[in-house]
Parts: sequence; C-alpha cells; structure tokens
Amino acid sequence: MSTRISQPDNVAMKGGYWLATKGTMDVIAAAAPLVMDALDCMDTEAADSPFCLTDMGCADGGSSMHLVRKVVQTVRRGSPDREISVVYTDQPRNNYNALFRLLHSVDESSVQSYFEEFQRLYVLASGTSFYEQLVPNRSLDFGFSCTAMHWLHSKPSDISEHVHAVGATGDELLTFKRQAAVDWETILLHRAAELKDGGRLVLVNFCRDAEGRHLGNTTGVNMFDTFNQLWCSMLSEGEITQAEYVSMTLPQYYNTLEEFGAPFEDSGSAVSRAGLTLEHAQTKVVECPFRAEFAQHGDAAQFARDYVPTLRSWSESTFHGALSASRSEEDRRRLVDDFYGAYRALVEDNPAQHRMDYVHAYLTIAKSSS
Ligand SMILES: C[S@@+](CC[C@H](N)C(=O)[O-])C[C@H]1O[C@@H](n2cnc3c(N)ncnc32)[C@H](O)[C@@H]1O
Repeated sequence: MSTRISQPDNVAMKGGYWLATKGTMDVIAAAAPLVMDALDCMDTEAADSPFCLTDMGCADGGSSMHLVRKVVQTVRRGSPDREISVVYTDQPRNNYNALFRLLHSVDESSVQSYFEEFQRLYVLASGTSFYEQLVPNRSLDFGFSCTAMHWLHSKPSDISEHVHAVGATGDELLTFKRQAAVDWETILLHRAAELKDGGRLVLVNFCRDAEGRHLGNTTGVNMFDTFNQLWCSMLSEGEITQAEYVSMTLPQYYNTLEEFGAPFEDSGSAVSRAGLTLEHAQTKVVECPFRAEFAQHGDAAQFARDYVPTLRSWSESTFHGALSASRSEEDRRRLVDDFYGAYRALVEDNPAQHRMDYVHAYLTIAKSSS
C-alpha cells in the first residue's frame, strides 16, 4: 500500500520568489555562522563518499545561493577533490524553472550563481515534500531549510474566527498544536534516516519567541489580525460567504523553542532513539527590509507598493483557494485583488504601524550513531 502523502494544493509561492521576499536573504545570512559552526563539527574530509547537501523548501534557490556557495567552499577547503551533490527540494508545484534559470545564469540577475565556480559539483532537484524521505538512508551530510517548515502537512481543521493559528483559541488551537507536533516529529524522523552518522541539520523555522513575537507581530499592528479584519469586513459587506471566510485558515503553525525542543528532551522518544540531538537553539528577529527602506525614503505609497507583495507571495494561494469554485475565476481574482488593495491602503494611511519583521528559531541538530 502506498504511504505517499499529498500536500494541500493551495500552498504555493508566487514566481520571482526571492525578489518579493528579499528579507529571507537576511534571515539566511543570519544563519551562516551556525552553518559554519556545524560544518566545523563535522568530518567533511571523509572522502569515501560524495558530500550531500539538501536545501528543503528551496523555492527558486535565490535566497540560499550564497549560503550554498559557502558550504561548498568550506567542504572543498578541507577536501579539494571531494564530489559534492546539492539537492534542492520543494513541492511539486514549485517554480523549478526559476531555480534552474538562476542556477545556470540564464537571465541577468543580481544573485550570482555558484554553479560555474566549482568542478565535481552535481546539482539536482526533487519535488518530494519534506514530510517524506528525500534521499537514501545514511546518504545526507548536511540538511538545511529556511522559512518552510511552518507549513503543516495538512490543515487539521478550519479556524472559525481567525485566519491563522496565532489567533486561534481553545480546542482549535489545540488541534493545530497537536498536528504541528506530529509534523515536526515526521520531519525529524525522515531526516534521521537520511543523515550519515555525524551529519548535521540547520533548520531556520518561523517561531513564536519568548516575548510572544512572531512574523508580522513585533511592534505596531499584528499582520495576521489585519488579514483577519480585512476578510471579516469583506464578509460583513457580503463580498464573501461565511464558508469562504472560515476556509481562509492558513495551514501553518509557529512552534515555540520549547515545542521544537520537546522531541529531544526525552531520551526514550522516537527522535532521540533515531540518534538526533539538539545542539543549538535560539530565536532571532530580522527587520522587515521594506520597513527599513521606508525609514530611508519616507514615501508611504512606495512602502505600501513594495511591502504588500511580500505578504501576497505566500498568502495568496490559500486565500484564493478558499474562494468558492462556483465563482468565476475573474470574480475570485477580483476579490483577492480587492483584499490586497485594501491592505495597501491601510499601509499607505498609517505606514508607521506596519512591518513584517521575521521571527525565527535557529536550530542545529546532530545525528549520532543509533
Ligand atoms: C517562504 S518560502 C522559503 C524559501 C527559501 N527557503 C527561503 O528561505 O527564502 C517556503 C517554501 O517552502 C515550500 N514548502 C512548503 N511546504 C513544503 C513541503 N511540505 N515540502 C517542501 N517544500 C515545502 C514552499 O513551496 C516554498 O517554496
């Protein structure tokens, strides 16, 4: 019997990803010291097999391009002849064309590909979800992922009065929390199977930090509350139906450091028995780059024009997918455009209140012999 899972159809990034979400480059830059520390702890000179690196949830690979270059340079410094494979992974609907165009420098781009800089470097891509095993048993040296694992395997339920688990309460919140715990264990157990002994993971995942901050909720208005308020007003104006509003729920959950750490706490847990230990865990806030630019140029209309597409890039597919299939495609597009247009107007009216600072957990995980 097949154990393959299906990913919700409506979780997809829009094309031109890294340009719209340039803040993730800063998030990845902040992970570079951890990645270098992890490589330092590994025996990267063991040249009996190729060094294998995965970038899980890579989108178009633009934001991790420089980090992958640094990993390859570091491995090659100790082992100049070692073959290296880089496996980019994402969902089946990801824009792999954009990934290969960047990697092979097909178009002009401000992101410089590393591909031509190295020999014996093999770059592959996989459309398999990180909720499945991605590479053969004990073949992975280093697994990386940034800003991807907050997407749950599937939506456990709708949230009746909000669009995101950060606004859920009671049993609805508990349902999301439980699903996220199962999903986190699934991710870890697959990685445990893939990793060679001594291998490392650096996972940079959205989180809720000790002060309760999370993406779009650091200071000023809460971005997810704003999403919710805008859809609620479209509901009260009769623009969308109650059923559509309820299914706007994003299939995401932001773990706390405690929730990320829980499977490692108990030496008898499946994750511990699989040989994984948590070596490092911290949270970091990375400033919204659009907001930082606004502080320089002071033009509210430009800020709104630049900023709202970054929210749209990752939320639109869920919101569009929640609108009834009985509507014409034109009507669905119009509603989604109206929604982001209304968000843009809010930002323009009161720019000082808006920002999407990134709040991440930076985790290093090691595999020992099991
Ligand atoms: C916000 S983007 C992050 C892209 C890149 N890692 C970065 O940091 O800029 C999230 C990516 O995760 C991918 N993703 C979501 N769920 C996934 C899954 N189950 N397996 C693989 N990729 C997934 C999305 O398709 C998307 O490309």
